[in-house]
Amino acid sequence: MPFSPNAKPDMNLDRELAALLFEIERFGKENDQRETDRKRKMLNLEPETAALLHILVRATHRQSILEIGTSNGYSTIWLADALCSRTKCRLVSIERNPLKLEMARKNLMRAGLLNSVTLLGGEASATVRTLEGPFDCVFFDADRISAPEQLEILIPKLKPDVLLLADNVLSHPEEIADYLNFVAGLVGFSSVTIPIGKGLNIAYRQSP
Ligand SMILES: C[S@@+](CC[C@H](N)C(=O)[O-])C[C@H]1O[C@@H](n2cnc3c(N)ncnc32)[C@H](O)[C@@H]1O
Repeated sequence: MPFSPNAKPDMNLDRELAALLFEIERFGKENDQRETDRKRKMLNLEPETAALLHILVRATHRQSILEIGTSNGYSTIWLADALCSRTKCRLVSIERNPLKLEMARKNLMRAGLLNSVTLLGGEASATVRTLEGPFDCVFFDADRISAPEQLEILIPKLKPDVLLLADNVLSHPEEIADYLNFVAGLVGFSSVTIPIGKGLNIAYRQSP
């Protein structure tokens, strides 16, 4: 179901922001139908999944989010909006495609959220190595196969109370299997896959 700025007043989004998200969503769908080269597809989150992320971030008071896989910034805007009403928050987002990163920069600027986000260009694993923690939320939405490597690097950079989110569990089960196995082997985490959009895995570790 497409997100409509009028159909979802329950999301409590600013009206202009809702209209911009709708525009980006429509652009992504049209672009992805037309493009045959996967690298040129936007591959944006399903709106329902994005709305769930927004609620999770708000409801659990996340303060320091890392997103892996920015594309043109659709999910980044949802995450930044969920965070930005709170003080002392940060959002870092990684994308290896410079053209998409530039599109994300422009979209975040239009959303008035560019100052709330640190956009980083580069390969996810190499970039994650350079980051200082701590993060209390990581959203994995890049190539899935390299996600366990990134999670391993991130372990010492996570807060005790941390939420791990990963999309494409139902759409790409084989590619994401190693990530899910890695999460299942972590001590203290509960995890569940929600059949929303392309399938969202949520793993949560509470502070002891
Ligand atoms: C599914 S899209 C992200 C969609 C975005 N989260 C959204 O909802 O708008 C995945 C993005 O991750 C990027 N990507 C894939 N593998 C990557 C990697 N190893 N390092 C950095 N970026 C990567 C791709 O270029 C692509 O733009």
